Amino acid sequence: MKKSFLSYVCTFYVISLVIVFSYALTATALNSDEIRNHLGTRTPYRFKSNKDDSKINFPNCKDSKIWMVARHGTRLPSVKDIVAISTILKDLRVDILLRNRSGKGPLNKEKLQWFENWSNGIPLEQENYLTLEGQDEMILLAERMQKRFPNAIKNKYNNETFMFRYTATQRAQQSAKYFTIGLFDKKNSQQVFFEPALKVDTTLRFYKHCDRWQKQVKRNPDTYKEVALFGQSKEMNDTLLSVSKRLGLDKALTLEQVVLMYRVCGYETSWHKYTKSPWCFGFDEKSIKVLEYYEDLKKYWVDGYGHTQQAACMVMRNMFDTMSKSGRNATFLFSHSGTVLKLLTHLELYKPDSHLKGDAMDENRPWRTSDIDCFASNIAFVLFKCKDGDKILTLHQEKVVKLPMCEKKLCPLNELKKQFHNTIHNCNFTDLCSIN
Ligand SMILES: *[C@@H]1O[C@H](CO)[C@@H](O)[C@H](O)[C@H]1NC(C)=O
Ligand SMILES: *[C@@H]1O[C@H](CO)[C@@H](O)[C@H](O)[C@H]1NC(C)=O
Ligand SMILES: *[C@@H]1O[C@H](CO)[C@@H](O)[C@H](O)[C@H]1NC(C)=O
Ligand SMILES: *[C@@H]1O[C@H](CO)[C@@H](O)[C@H](O)[C@H]1NC(C)=O
Ligand SMILES: *[C@@H]1O[C@H](CO)[C@@H](O)[C@H](O)[C@H]1NC(C)=O
Ligand SMILES: *[C@@H]1O[C@H](CO)[C@@H](O)[C@H](O)[C@H]1NC(C)=O
Repeated sequence: MKKSFLSYVCTFYVISLVIVFSYALTATALNSDEIRNHLGTRTPYRFKSNKDDSKINFPNCKDSKIWMVARHGTRLPSVKDIVAISTILKDLRVDILLRNRSGKGPLNKEKLQWFENWSNGIPLEQENYLTLEGQDEMILLAERMQKRFPNAIKNKYNNETFMFRYTATQRAQQSAKYFTIGLFDKKNSQQVFFEPALKVDTTLRFYKHCDRWQKQVKRNPDTYKEVALFGQSKEMNDTLLSVSKRLGLDKALTLEQVVLMYRVCGYETSWHKYTKSPWCFGFDEKSIKVLEYYEDLKKYWVDGYGHTQQAACMVMRNMFDTMSKSGRNATFLFSHSGTVLKLLTHLELYKPDSHLKGDAMDENRPWRTSDIDCFASNIAFVLFKCKDGDKILTLHQEKVVKLPMCEKKLCPLNELKKQFHNTIHNCNFTDLCSIN
């Protein structure tokens, strides 16, 4: 009796220990998740992709055509960011190490070593170039899509069924190239014909040359009202202080400095699967969410529901053209964040109940660039030929999504055409984009 009581106590003790340990382990694992799930538009696709690549079947239906638009994969920073990194962050690194040497820093030995080892030397000529991670993202995305829809996406190249287009940028062009390497073998992929990139592409990058959008949205100071408000809020000021404190600095960092740190934390996490970015050490879950909201807010007003984004009909119309008899069986377009977000808006996906504002964080917003606009973000429409007619399946980030205007996930093509009547029949770039 006594012995068994003792063994009870021992068992209880062991179980408690196991619980405590596994809690500790989960807590550290969660810690990095807390950061990596809030990196905004610089989130690498490996955190978001759908690893389940099993064939997608519907009874009495056959996958027959696909149209897909993708944001380019993980890239290097723009010239502006490269310059800021090699000045602002370079100086901050020195400050952080100095504070430690004077015995005042809160960072542990390991974290300080990451700062000690950090260097940057991105050549300006390589601004915005696709990275190795970006190449991998495209190869793997292509492989999985082909496994899901093997009839629509054949593994043998044929120039009459496939269509590949990209914008006139290195990152989109290279994304297209590595995508085709994922679809076909090395030899086959060298024969792929790519449509010549257009300097003014009113389909793939409709907004760039849309004068009305440029004037009314992009260059309109009102667009940035809410972002500016949030940038000046108490919540943001508290965040700037907490980031400074976490890095051991004795004065508050500026918004510009912390936004730059946030961006570089995202970039470096994307580029390197197995090493850490010391610039992430400034953030905890609470503060990184504030920076994430700051970015979501900006994208919301520039590329999302803050405005109507009518010109997105240009790219959507291309989808409907492709699904008609004369369209190619497999169309792949390589473009940018601005295109993906405006198309999502045109599709009425991830729409918050009310406008995102700068006076308070909307914690439960469906509009989260970390999820919907990471590197290599993609939207695909797949035509299923069914016994009872043609139907369209929509995927975002390789996951099936239900369009709000359609009752079912597998939406009858005729129903979709009805819902997008204006997109198909009243989408005239000149009319939508001229200033009058
Ligand atoms: C293209 O799709 C059409 C209709 O779905 C089909 O009849 C044709 O065989 C396909 N072509 C190729 C090369 O797969
Ligand atoms: C941090 O400070 C300690 C104590 O002064 C020093 O030994 C160590 O080398 C410093 N670490 C770095 C990375 O500067
Ligand atoms: C920093 O670099 C040194 C020398 O290359 C290396 O031994 C050490 O592991 C690195 N530390 C970190 C945290 O990367
Ligand atoms: C496909 O390739 C053939 C032979 O190389 C060529 O004659 C034809 O014009 C190409 N078609 C298209 C649509 O590019
Ligand atoms: C936040 O800081 C900025 C700049 O120092 C200041 O202008 C602003 O009034 C502060 N906001 C609040 C709510 O204290
Ligand atoms: C678009 O509208 C302009 C004038 O409003 C007209 O000249 C042009 O033909 C239209 N384009 C198309 C493709 O319908």
